[in-house]
Formats: sequence, C-alpha cells, structure tokens
Amino acid sequence: MAHAPTDIPSAWVERFAALVPAGGTVLDVAAGGGRHSRLFRRLGHPVVALDRDITGMAALATDPEAEIVSVDLEDGSPWPYRGEHFAGVVVTNYLWRPLLPDLIASVGPGGVLIYETFALGNERFGKPSNPDFLLRPGELLDAVRGDLRIIAYEDVEVTQPKPAMVQRIAAVRG
Ligand SMILES: C[S@@+](CC[C@H](N)C(=O)[O-])C[C@H]1O[C@@H](n2cnc3c(N)ncnc32)[C@H](O)[C@@H]1O
Repeated sequence: MAHAPTDIPSAWVERFAALVPAGGTVLDVAAGGGRHSRLFRRLGHPVVALDRDITGMAALATDPEAEIVSVDLEDGSPWPYRGEHFAGVVVTNYLWRPLLPDLIASVGPGGVLIYETFALGNERFGKPSNPDFLLRPGELLDAVRGDLRIIAYEDVEVTQPKPAMVQRIAAVRG
C-alpha cells in the first residue's frame, strides 16, 4: 500500500539515521504524525516522541518501544529531559528557539543531532513566513559549534517535497 505523503521520512533524516548508535533511543521532537519515530523503530531504535498533539501517533502508542508524550514545548516549563541523554535527537519542520540549547544538550556521548527546518527566504514560497519560525543564515551551525562535531550542513532551496528554503544539519557528540 502506498504511504501517505506525511509518512515519507525526510531524505535528510534518512541519510544520517545510520549515525545513531545501534539500539540507542531517539528523541523525536515535535514529532507530528510520527514519520521519523516510525523510521527509527524500523531501524531498531526505541523512540520517545514529543508533541502537543499526539493524535496522529495512535498507531505507535501500542508499541512498547515507543513512548508518546503529550507536551507543550513552548509554555515556559523547563525542558523535561534536562540531564537525560539520547542516542539521537531529531527535529524536522519545527523551530522554537529557546529550546535549541536543551536539544543540543540532550545529545548523549556518541549521539547525533539531525535537524531540518525552514529558513529565511521561505516566505517567498508560503508558510512558514514568520521570521520567528525561520532559521537565520548559519543559525544551526552557530548553535552547535564548539559542542557537537558537524558532519553535514546545508542552507538551500529545495523543490521536494515542496519548494522551500531549508537549513539542515547532522552533528555528533564526540
Ligand atoms: C510541521 S509539523 C512537523 C511534524 C514532524 N516533525 C514532521 O516533520 O513530520 C510541526 C509540529 O510541531 C508541533 N508543535 C507546534 N507547537 C508545539 C508546541 N508548543 N509544543 C509541542 N509541539 C508543538 C505541532 O503539533 C506539529 O506536530
């Protein structure tokens, strides 16, 4: 059966998924319908999937290796995983700047951050167009520099899955 478009993982996440240490837990932040949580489950990783709306992840909820957490990440509460570490932290199509330091700190030794979201210039293509939700040039690089080792970074215009400006990074600790 064909997958719905929302079930297709980001090519960037798929490309770097193998960097996540085998069997390590992956934190999927603002997971939406859980397309990346499902990808990492297929790859044998336990997952923790966070979103304020978890209705799209009902199918994952029966998986004992998938923890689905309903949480508002922008209500000013402390990051719920302070002091905890994950083998992978994955964020796509989501930006809440105050979280960036906590997301990076949640990458454990040998772990990887895979992040892809919209960048300035995307307003030419539609939404998101609010600069609060668009990365500034080099912003992901600046966020991880001196802490994680950068494996790959792009700040590019893409045509798939739709025309957009995106910034994306894969970076490891150690
Ligand atoms: C564009 S979707 C991306 C979903 C997923 N990462 C993907 O790429 O398929 C953005 C997600 O951010 C979640 N989100 C937005 N604001 C949030 C908040 N304050 N707390 C938690 N999740 C939030 C939305 O519910 C939505 O699922």
